[in-house]
Amino acid sequence: MTSGEGIAPYNAPMPWEQELAARVRRDVELKDFITIRVGGRARCFVEPKTADEVGCLLRALTAEGRPYRVLGGGSNTLPPDGVIDEVVVHPGKMDGFEVCGDRVHVGAGLPTQRLVNQCSAAGLAGVHVLAGVPGQVGGAVAMNAGTHYGEICESVERVSVRLADGSAVELKRDDLSFGYRRSTLPTGAIICGVTLRLHPVEDVQELRRTGGGYLKEKNKAQPTRTWNFGCMFKNPPDESAGRLLDAAGLKGLVRGGARISPIHANFVENVDDAASADVLWLLEQAAQRVLEDSGVRLEREVRTW
Ligand code: EPU
Repeated sequence: MTSGEGIAPYNAPMPWEQELAARVRRDVELKDFITIRVGGRARCFVEPKTADEVGCLLRALTAEGRPYRVLGGGSNTLPPDGVIDEVVVHPGKMDGFEVCGDRVHVGAGLPTQRLVNQCSAAGLAGVHVLAGVPGQVGGAVAMNAGTHYGEICESVERVSVRLADGSAVELKRDDLSFGYRRSTLPTGAIICGVTLRLHPVEDVQELRRTGGGYLKEKNKAQPTRTWNFGCMFKNPPDESAGRLLDAAGLKGLVRGGARISPIHANFVENVDDAASADVLWLLEQAAQRVLEDSGVRLEREVRTW
């Protein structure tokens, strides 16, 4: 988020709202965009359709010093309850998918599972390792989404972003210094599109079977019938956060309408109209208990606003 100190309260329409009128909505329930279905109302929610619109928006917001947040597929984001004053930018409508030989050009708002399915159908291997990973491509790249079988960074060739001043930049894979669930995306930048370089395969059915097998394994180990946002914490080096949380006795711990999954201890679930505060309490409690139990300080995968 950009700094908003000294900014007038957000009430009257801002000049750029006219230019992007068709993309701006007021008083939007964020829980509809968050996979665990919690979070308050955004006063101003913008869904740009093109990179140029993202640039125009960022240029205006930065010139005004207006704080903003980027919300992708909502599978690693925990907004607070109540009213959210920062402008929320959601690239969900930039969801193009185009195959060019062994490359695909995709919009940041393409759901990760559509990417997986469409690449498999096109006989292109690489992102099939992300079978079952929620969210959208922009967030997947920003956080280097992955599974036991691989990470998205292995397939990334180039990333088109708009910087906070609205300017367009093309980043190569090495520019993003990908690590385990991390990248060095410039602060305030928004990913608009990604070029992936994949591996053509002869046997599409075999590729589908491999992805399907990963998905089956995931569904056996993780909750599938409740709202959740995937893993809460990153795995510490050579350890498993799920195993540590389980050993600390956290499975089934309830706060309000939220609960730590009885199936996989690294998942928090919304089981009964949970508030964001319930989820946050469980995140804090879980980290504290693991620290006491094993001395390991867990790092959150979920980003709180
Ligand atoms: N385990 C327990 N108790 C639990 C959960 C797990 O003892 O409650 C043990 C398992 O038995 C296993 C080990 O912990 O020996 C690892 O668990 P699992 O195989 O379920 O994988 P994970 O490391 O918890 C990672 C990713 C998942 C991804 C899976 C499958 C992270 C933080 N998590 O989970 O990604 O789906 O591998 O590839 O890297 C995510 O990042 O949001 C996510 C869900």
